[in-house]
Amino acid sequence: MNLVLKNDLNLLSDILDEVKSSGIAYLNGLDLLPTSVSDQDIEEIQLLGTGHGTMKSLEIFKENYQKLIVASSGPRYLGFVIGGTTPAAIAGDWLTSIFDQNPQSLKGAGDISAQIEMETIRLLLELFNLPAQFNGGFVSGATMANFTGLAVARQWAGVSLGMDIALEGMTSEIVVLGPTPHSSVFKALSMLGFGSSNVVKINSLSGREALDISDLESKLIQYSGKPVILNCSAGTVNTVDFDDIRAIVELKKKYNFWLHIDAAFGGFAACSPSQKYLLNGWEHADSITIDCHKWMNVPYDSAIILTKKEHHTLQTQTFQNSNAPYLGDPETDFSYLNFLPENSRRFRALPAWFSLMAYGREGFQSIVENSISNAQNFGSYLDKSDALELKAPVRLNVVCFGLKRSGEKTAEFLSVLNSRGKVFMTATLLDGKLCIRAAFVNYRTTQADIAIVIEELEAVCIQLF
Ligand SMILES: Cc1ncc(COP(=O)(O)O)c(C=O)c1O
Repeated sequence: MNLVLKNDLNLLSDILDEVKSSGIAYLNGLDLLPTSVSDQDIEEIQLLGTGHGTMKSLEIFKENYQKLIVASSGPRYLGFVIGGTTPAAIAGDWLTSIFDQNPQSLKGAGDISAQIEMETIRLLLELFNLPAQFNGGFVSGATMANFTGLAVARQWAGVSLGMDIALEGMTSEIVVLGPTPHSSVFKALSMLGFGSSNVVKINSLSGREALDISDLESKLIQYSGKPVILNCSAGTVNTVDFDDIRAIVELKKKYNFWLHIDAAFGGFAACSPSQKYLLNGWEHADSITIDCHKWMNVPYDSAIILTKKEHHTLQTQTFQNSNAPYLGDPETDFSYLNFLPENSRRFRALPAWFSLMAYGREGFQSIVENSISNAQNFGSYLDKSDALELKAPVRLNVVCFGLKRSGEKTAEFLSVLNSRGKVFMTATLLDGKLCIRAAFVNYRTTQADIAIVIEELEAVCIQLF
């Protein structure tokens, strides 16, 4: 064994102690760490002949890089849709690296990780009040979950046309309908060979991001006889609008289409008794995307794709890893290998499993409702502000707002706000106009943070106006 590596193994306990103490120092100071760092230039380094060993590498990392890391897992990072990491999720994540499993087969070589993954999916179905008729597995994020759900949908569409797309490729037109899909849906469609420009868009309701049911019905009539895949949104990224899933499910009784729901973060509405109505009917979907690294507050690299058990054959046709006798028979032995896009995966289920065990239904209700109440309180402030205004109603946990006057200064306003380093938000376009989004996802965010956010906004108003 290489001497540096051997020495590292001997020092493993010290190394992990050092990682723990720097990790704790980081997390304890998260509140005060900057949410943006202006100068992130790093010096190019050369690959070493003889490595430094881990202790020295940690030192170098802390000195040169750690100071450039922004507090995106902290309480006032409100850009994109970014959660943090709960203690249980960190515990699960550390152990994921330590155990280094590759969850594949239920009967595989003594490894229990695939079974724990299945158990985690079962617990998540309970958390979301979804029936046991869904299969599921972990992928790297909602983009890959959308990809996976739409890939099985593509196989279904092919079968409706008498084709096995996984075997024969795509030769015939398949219609995909999408109202206001997340950009990752377009990406997934491109990767799947649909051609993202072939998407037929359904009109949205006036002043909303949700689809117009009557337009959906007229398109379903127009394309009758063709396999139609409907991607619908349970929580759009700008205004957290929900398509009327119950009405869509009513149409599903009349027309034949695949229903994929992108519930990347909106799925967590199921954890709140007062908000779960937004998802009414979602148990009738063919496939559902839910991100765990957003509102569940587990570290990155974690989302689930749920697909109806009745589509199991379509799914294994789509993802079969055939011609590898050493990996088992896809026809007879269940393996995640034949069920999801990746062959080898890290044990992504473990942080989610620890979080579910540690916090249960009440813990997640409290995380979700805390974010909603933070968003509402921030929205109430904006309602009373002279300089700022809401650009959409606060529906769940994202607040979309902008300047009342001088809309042309929105980009400058956001840039000054972010450069102050105490709060971070991102821009978006709503009806073609630039506005600002504040997404409340992190379990650490408190009322005191909202007060700081407001102070910061007011300071920027004074600076600019
Ligand atoms: C509704 C929705 N779908 C999909 C995604 C893509 O998620 P990921 O970045 O985890 O792939 C996002 C990310 O914000 C989202 O909000």
